[in-house]
Amino acid sequence: MIIGNWKMNTLRADALALAKAVMGMGCSSSTRIGICPPALWIDAIAEVVKHSSILVGAQDCVGDKFGAQTGSINADMVRNAGCSMVILGHSERRARFGESSEKLLNTVVAVLGTGMFPVFCVGETKKQRESGKASDVVVGQLKPLLTAGIDLGGIVIAYEPVWAIGTGLSATRKDIEEMHATVREVINRDDTPVLYGGSVSPESADDVFNARGVSGALVGGASLNADKFAAIVAAWERK
Ligand code: 13P
Repeated sequence: MIIGNWKMNTLRADALALAKAVMGMGCSSSTRIGICPPALWIDAIAEVVKHSSILVGAQDCVGDKFGAQTGSINADMVRNAGCSMVILGHSERRARFGESSEKLLNTVVAVLGTGMFPVFCVGETKKQRESGKASDVVVGQLKPLLTAGIDLGGIVIAYEPVWAIGTGLSATRKDIEEMHATVREVINRDDTPVLYGGSVSPESADDVFNARGVSGALVGGASLNADKFAAIVAAWERK
């Protein structure tokens, strides 16, 4: 599974052109490709890709039902717009908007309730890694899901070390393997995909995908360029 997180990028015309370019990329039927455009373009992009196998996702949503919540978009809305997944707990949202795994539980439940799947992000900061707390942090971010009895069979997890996001510094194969083993041990399931994210590029992709336990990637910057995104998909397929 290779998912592009476009973050807060693209105007409408660029977004549609990029979606069309992604749709034109060849890939085998066993590789699932997803794109997560800004919420405003979801509807139009879902229309563009509707006869393809490309999945469309939202970058966030709230877990509440309809109501007086100015500016918010809920899980039913993004589902209705054509999404099949929602990124939740991205480190940029954890850092800027105070989201935590505990606060996200109702959103996870709401997303699952619509039939979509959450792409639940976890990852440590540079400081946490340097002080030897990386795995404690990631385990702590996953534990609320287990405590709440969430069915992890319906979830995708993305390990995204914060220090690797947008920095060009992808984690080493060893770091990735160790953390993916930790995640797998905590969730205690073999069928939950665990993606890696953080500066995945055509240059780093082979290394990332050769790391044991990696089920694919959550790609930021490189997913804004169709050729780079295609090269990452190709790296996954030759693994
Ligand atoms: P980059 O690939 O730009 O490092 O971003 C990773 C990410 O945050 C994907 O969600």
